[in-house]
Amino acid sequence: SWKLTNYIDETIADIKAKVGQQKVILGLSGGVDSSVAAVLIHRAIGDQLQCIFVDTGLLRKDEGNKVMENYGEHFNLKIKMIDASERFLSKLKDISDPEEKRKIIGNEFVAVFDEESHKIEGAKFLAQGTIYPDVIESQSVKGPSAVIKSHHNVGGLPEEMDFELLEPLRELFKDEVRKVGVELGIPAHLVNRHPFPGPGLGIRILGAVDEDKVRILQEADDIFIEELYKNDLYEKVSQAFVVLLPVKSVGVMGDERTYEYTAVVRSANTTDFMTATWSRLPYEFLDTVSSRIINEVRGINRVAYDISSKPPATIEWE
Ligand code: XMP
Repeated sequence: SWKLTNYIDETIADIKAKVGQQKVILGLSGGVDSSVAAVLIHRAIGDQLQCIFVDTGLLRKDEGNKVMENYGEHFNLKIKMIDASERFLSKLKDISDPEEKRKIIGNEFVAVFDEESHKIEGAKFLAQGTIYPDVIESQSVKGPSAVIKSHHNVGGLPEEMDFELLEPLRELFKDEVRKVGVELGIPAHLVNRHPFPGPGLGIRILGAVDEDKVRILQEADDIFIEELYKNDLYEKVSQAFVVLLPVKSVGVMGDERTYEYTAVVRSANTTDFMTATWSRLPYEFLDTVSSRIINEVRGINRVAYDISSKPPATIEWE
C-alpha cells in the first residue's frame, strides 16, 4: 500500500542520513523482527551492515543453515555465523533450574555477541529489531507476575556497550512488521514464522540439557512443524513446538522392549500470548505426528499432547 511504501522509503532515507559511511552490526536470530530489520537496513546501506548470527546449539534443526540460505544467499546480507554451541552446552551442564538456565543462556549470549561485535572494526551502530510492543513492555512497571519467568530476550545488549542504537521498527506492531517484510520481498512463510524464545530449546528440554537431548528434540520438533505446514495448519496456530521430558517409560518396538523419553506436542492459539488455549488439532493429524516421531526419532517412544490452557499453565513448559 501507499502508506507502507512510504514508511519504507522514509525509513531507508532516515537510516542513510543517520548512518552515513559508518558500519552497523545486527544480531540476526532468524526470527521475524531481526530479519525484517536486517533486510530493511541492508536496503539502505548495503554491505555497511554486518549481521552476526549466534548458534547457541539450542536452535531448531538446521536453523543456522536456513538463515544463511534465506538471508545470506537470497538477500545477500553479510552474515558472520558463530558456532557457540559448545560454550552454551558446557555452561548448561547439570543445570536443571529453569530460571538459572535462562540466566546462563542470556549471559552467555551477551558475552559471545560482545566479543564478536568488538572484532568488527569501526562499527558505530548496533541495530535491533525492537518493535513497538517491546518498547511499551520495557517502559511498564512490572508487578510480581512479570518475574514468574524472566524473559531474557536474546538479542538484548549489555548497558556498557558503547554503540549507538538503530531501531527502525520501533513504531510498528507485529502485523505491520510482517507487511514491511513482505513488501521487502521476504517470503510469506518466513514473515509468518511463530515466535521462538531466546533461550530456545534450553527451556524446552526439561531439566538438564545435553547434546543428545538437543538432537532428539530437534528431530521431533522438525517432524511436528513439517506436518503442520504439510497439512496447512501452521498458520492456523500461534505457536507450536515439541517439549522433551526427561521421563522414560516402557514401550515395545517390533519384539524389543524399549525404555525411552517422552515427547510432548504443544500448540497454542492466542492473540497476545498472555492468555492462550490449546489448539484443537485434528486427531488424525496428531496420530500422524505421534507415529512419525516414535518411528523416526531414536530416543522417544511415547508422545503426549498438551491440553492445558494459559492460565493457569504457560505456553512453554519452563
Ligand atoms: P509463556 O510460556 O510465558 O510464554 O506462556 C509466552 C510467550 O513468551 C515466550 N517466552 C520467551 N521468550 N525469552 C523469550 O524471548 C524467554 O525466556 C521466554 N519465555 C517464554 C514464549 O515462547 C511465548 O511466545
